[in-house]
Amino acid sequence: MTHASTSQAFADPRPARRLAHPLSFDITTAAFKADPLPTYAAMRAAGRVVPVKVPFLGSVWATTSHAAALAMVKDNGLFVQEGEHAGKSGVAGFQWWMPKSLRALANNMLQKDEPDHRRLRKLVDAAFARRDVLAMRASIETIAERLLDGFEGRDSVDLAAEYSRRLPLAVIADLLGLPDRERDEFAEMARRALSLTNSFSLVLAMGSFSKMIGYVKGQVEAARRDPRPGLIGELVRAEHEGDKLDENELMSMIVLLLIAGFETTTHLISDAVVALEQHPDQKAWLLADPAARMERAVEELARHASPVQLTKPRYVASDTEFFGQPLRRGELIVAQVAAANCDPAEFDHPERLQLDRFPNPHLVFSSGIHFCLGQQLARVETQVALTALYARYPDLALATPDRVEWIERLGIRGPKTLPLRLNGASRRLAA
Ligand code: HEM
Repeated sequence: MTHASTSQAFADPRPARRLAHPLSFDITTAAFKADPLPTYAAMRAAGRVVPVKVPFLGSVWATTSHAAALAMVKDNGLFVQEGEHAGKSGVAGFQWWMPKSLRALANNMLQKDEPDHRRLRKLVDAAFARRDVLAMRASIETIAERLLDGFEGRDSVDLAAEYSRRLPLAVIADLLGLPDRERDEFAEMARRALSLTNSFSLVLAMGSFSKMIGYVKGQVEAARRDPRPGLIGELVRAEHEGDKLDENELMSMIVLLLIAGFETTTHLISDAVVALEQHPDQKAWLLADPAARMERAVEELARHASPVQLTKPRYVASDTEFFGQPLRRGELIVAQVAAANCDPAEFDHPERLQLDRFPNPHLVFSSGIHFCLGQQLARVETQVALTALYARYPDLALATPDRVEWIERLGIRGPKTLPLRLNGASRRLAA
């Protein structure tokens, strides 16, 4: 894993960096979340890779263009997760104050380089294959309809709490194969454990987190005693086969699916509704033929929202020059996929929501070896969620159109709450 040609160009004594200090961009404020594009444009003007300051990690390098983000996530030899591949110890982005138990559970495939990453990913890839995810569409539709039944007879709802958050959790419970009668209780437990607003609440949420882990452990034990359908059952089978998966990896895998698959999809659904309500012409175009237009529309809604704004940090494995920026071994770098998704070098008028945009080479789900495992599932969930919602309430509207409150957390973009006026009886009752 040597990058001799680039690293030799920056042998000691190193030339001064073009950009030596963190630039004063704050990528966690509500103002930034409400409209990130001007900040991304200013960052891009400063360079393709710029230093930014982020909570807990301090100064990290961040890509600002589509080309730089793509090159970074695709080069898993130069940009690595495991510290030992970059002269460090531990995993990129992990903090000393995180409880040991949490670190062990978070030691999942997203934190691994090859070959461990490949071994772990192979075990779950099949369950997330397009064919299998499409087969889940009918049960996702049932989940969406059941949640919407709870809206009947009401004038207003908080869509974030009552729909966007509940749907992905119910889908994950289904995927894992949790017993039907325990799913609501599990969803509530997971919601408490995983709805974190900043890294400190992670520590505060440890109680709920432990409760959820205890429950999942119980499910794993039950599946060991009594084989069952669903992903937990399949992972337990892989564990039995010996060298494929150990107990800690099994638990870490389930926790990763919960963390990676829940809040991300929640925000995509909410962000999509905000965008549609803020662009009535686009909403009208979509609702004129949702069956034919939804798939392409969700790609653009995802690009426009970019609910995951950046990847997890990687270590730079060796001294190099990357898009004009000297980087040193052991430094941290993130790919700002949200900045890539509004790069004018890649998208015409990136500021516009154009639901029929094609092609749409967004990096919402990243790329390379850590390319989102759940991307098909997230797409289908969002397509189903929007189709079902607007079929019942085509005239719904934001209750506070001038005041969407955004979560102020690094890397995530989504509204804290999403009050809606439903505007009229649902089409289902009216029919
Ligand atoms: C809108 C929804 C989603 C978005 C925007 C999203 C985005 C991403 C991104 C950007 C990455 C790369 C992270 C990195 O390299 O640091 C990723 C990885 C991952 N995502 Fe998603 N994701 C979504 C939904 C889901 C769902 C529903 C699941 C599963 C139930 C899931 C499971 C994963 C896993 C397991 C990884 C790590 C893959 C690996 O390391 O090989 N994601 N996701």
